Amino acid sequence: MGAELLDKPDVVSDILKSLRRELPADTAVSCKIRMLPTVEQTCDFMRMCEKSGANAVAVHLRTPQEDRRNKGAPAHWDDIAQLCSAVKIPVIANGDFFSRSHIEDFWQRYGAGHCAEEPDGFDVGPEAAATSAAAPAAVMIARGALWNPAVFSQQENVHFDDVVRNYIRTAERVNNVFFNTKWTLREMVTTDENKPASLNFAGLQGAALRRLKSKVDNMPNMSECCKLFGVDHDASAYPDKAFAVDYGYRWLPNADLTSSGAPLLAADGGAAVEASSPDPAELLCGGAEGGCGEMPVALGE
Ligand SMILES: Cc1cc2nc3c(=O)[nH]c(=O)nc-3n(C[C@H](O)[C@H](O)[C@H](O)COP(=O)(O)O)c2cc1C
Repeated sequence: MGAELLDKPDVVSDILKSLRRELPADTAVSCKIRMLPTVEQTCDFMRMCEKSGANAVAVHLRTPQEDRRNKGAPAHWDDIAQLCSAVKIPVIANGDFFSRSHIEDFWQRYGAGHCAEEPDGFDVGPEAAATSAAAPAAVMIARGALWNPAVFSQQENVHFDDVVRNYIRTAERVNNVFFNTKWTLREMVTTDENKPASLNFAGLQGAALRRLKSKVDNMPNMSECCKLFGVDHDASAYPDKAFAVDYGYRWLPNADLTSSGAPLLAADGGAAVEASSPDPAELLCGGAEGGCGEMPVALGE
């Protein structure tokens, strides 16, 4: 929901009521909001969302003003229990989940009853369990997932370089539009100070990381991209326009990709051949392809 709508609860209520009225009963309506200037005002707004038909509400735990005045201000995790106690619908917490340890830390501190039963096996402890009536149902991740698409994976000790290289291999395999691949890689090599150091490609820091970012900004095509990150790439195996905007989704290599779990499309862009759905965590953390930490990195001056 646009932050401007926080000042227009009547409009929001109308929108939610209309959605609830028009959508099939088994279609959930959720709403994502920012915090208002006080926790109590935020609670009131959430109650209004619930009363108007929302089935769940996600809260970015910052006010719009906080973002404008101080970009790095931490999200108000401490307010989540009070916000959750305002409504009966599930509340989704959002803001500053940059790594699995952040997520685990959050569940330790604010998770409750049902969280302890999650297959993830988070140990929320007796104190948090006692507050089970006022606990969030889930967390929502934005920047953390852009910086590290494997943030949801439960595999331990996955080297970030492998995640980056497996992302590139996956992009190559599914003929992802190059500009999209480049945009994503720019996020993965961000110099944002909130990014955990373990997510610095090749362990680069400071000026070296900024140089890598600049190289990513300037890389013109998939071949250069693969060279930069030390991924094997045989350009002759791809048609001239592979990875171009007008070629995306219309061509995929003829190689038998079923064993690696990648989706298959007919080479002529016709009917889709049965697609097995790959496990994103596997694709990005190694999976069938295994790690690639030994590959060279082209990060020279
Ligand atoms: C690239 C980008 C696009 C976003 N687009 C939207 C949007 O369309 N609607 C929205 O409510 N929030 C949007 N957000 C805000 C995020 O959903 C999220 O609330 C915010 O980034 C805080 O979460 P984080 O700490 O996990 O990044 C966007 C954030 C990013 C980084």
